[in-house]
Amino acid sequence: MSPSVFFTFFIFLFFPSFSALEINNFDHAYTNIINMVENIPTPSSTEPRTLNNEVGSSLVPALFVIGDSSVDCGTNNFLGTFARADRLPYGRDFDTHQPTGRFCNGRIPVDYLASFLGLPLVPSYLGQNGSVEDMVHGVNYASAGAGIIFSSGSELGQHISLTQQIQQVSDTTQQFILSMGEDAAASFISRSIFYISVGTNDYIHYYLRNISNVQTLYLPWNFNQFLATTMKQEIKNLYNSNARRVVVMGLAPIGCAPFYLWMYRSRDGHCIDIINDMVLEFNFAMRFMVEELNHELPGADIIFCDVFEASMDIIKNHDYYGFNVTTDACCGLGRYKGFIMCLSPDMACQNAANHIWWDQFHPTDAVNSILAENVWSGLHTPMCYPMSLQDMIA
Ligand SMILES: *[C@@H]1O[C@H](CO)[C@@H](O)[C@H](O)[C@H]1NC(C)=O
Ligand SMILES: *[C@@H]1O[C@H](CO)[C@@H](O)[C@H](O)[C@H]1NC(C)=O
Ligand SMILES: *[C@@H]1O[C@H](CO)[C@@H](O)[C@H](O)[C@H]1NC(C)=O
Repeated sequence: MSPSVFFTFFIFLFFPSFSALEINNFDHAYTNIINMVENIPTPSSTEPRTLNNEVGSSLVPALFVIGDSSVDCGTNNFLGTFARADRLPYGRDFDTHQPTGRFCNGRIPVDYLASFLGLPLVPSYLGQNGSVEDMVHGVNYASAGAGIIFSSGSELGQHISLTQQIQQVSDTTQQFILSMGEDAAASFISRSIFYISVGTNDYIHYYLRNISNVQTLYLPWNFNQFLATTMKQEIKNLYNSNARRVVVMGLAPIGCAPFYLWMYRSRDGHCIDIINDMVLEFNFAMRFMVEELNHELPGADIIFCDVFEASMDIIKNHDYYGFNVTTDACCGLGRYKGFIMCLSPDMACQNAANHIWWDQFHPTDAVNSILAENVWSGLHTPMCYPMSLQDMIA
């Protein structure tokens, strides 16, 4: 089907009902945004899951991932939901050149981080067979559409909420205890990395849509305090499962995402400030909460990584990073390619590597690689507080 046929079809189907259109569109997550790469090793298509798989070569025992579509690597393939990325062109530039459920043309940040840590790519919790052997380098619980608030994103269909994901972590640690014994499991978990990337859907699917009259009841400031308090409790639950090394990702500038440029009729691609202001407040509240937790939880090493800051650096210095398309998605239709979601290979641009945005809400592999390098070592812009991941585990 040609793009124009698709376009007409979707206008027809969805225009009368804006919420239906939104259903199809969102998921998001992002957490990432920006740029291109200079000296990052390009993933080789021949060695996806075996990368640095030898025993003893990794810097930490395992990587556990919690969150939304910014880091979902296949969870939603098993669920009944509109928020899915199991068809081309998703995955076309991935190691295997196949769709996997990642909301990207290629890799997501945790894929790059796994290789920096000397670990193989981490499998999705629902995609593995439940044996400890399969989970021993880590597990990815992230589910597109999930938010900090239980009901955020529920109009998309099924997802695994943040609370449920933390419960799954606890189930996993129980399995480790059964298989390796209490002390060995506690040591394993406490030296592993827990990476949390969630919160975008609490804006995209909840606050910005004024669900349950939320905008009247809460100013963005109060809403963010609520989200930070909820997240704080969830991190304490992880701590009770012996997690000690935690990376909390902030929100990306979703006010610059092609969907909102289209929806708010941006002139010249100018980002939507009213949305970015809420994101800034969210990041401020989360960073403060992380500082508090570091004081409250003995032995915890928690870092906050400001994706907004790093992403704006990429947008501003896009020439330096090698991006010449900064506002339009690579895949989609309409103004900024932000109106109709990415549905088929013929809606996608040829070269995603010079684009910041892959689809309406998600950055390209090139941006994810820059963000991952920044989380790891602050290579381009220091973005994690009080230190980078590399320094945290040193
Ligand atoms: C689970 O997967 C691992 C490797 O992915 C394999 O070695 C193991 O035999 C599998 N276990 C079962 C019960 O299928
Ligand atoms: C949010 O919804 C409520 C009722 O559903 C409405 O009264 C209020 O004006 C809306 N707020 C905004 C900012 O649209
Ligand atoms: C971006 O650069 C590529 C070549 O490097 C060029 O083909 C393309 O037209 C440029 N796009 C824009 C929007 O400038």
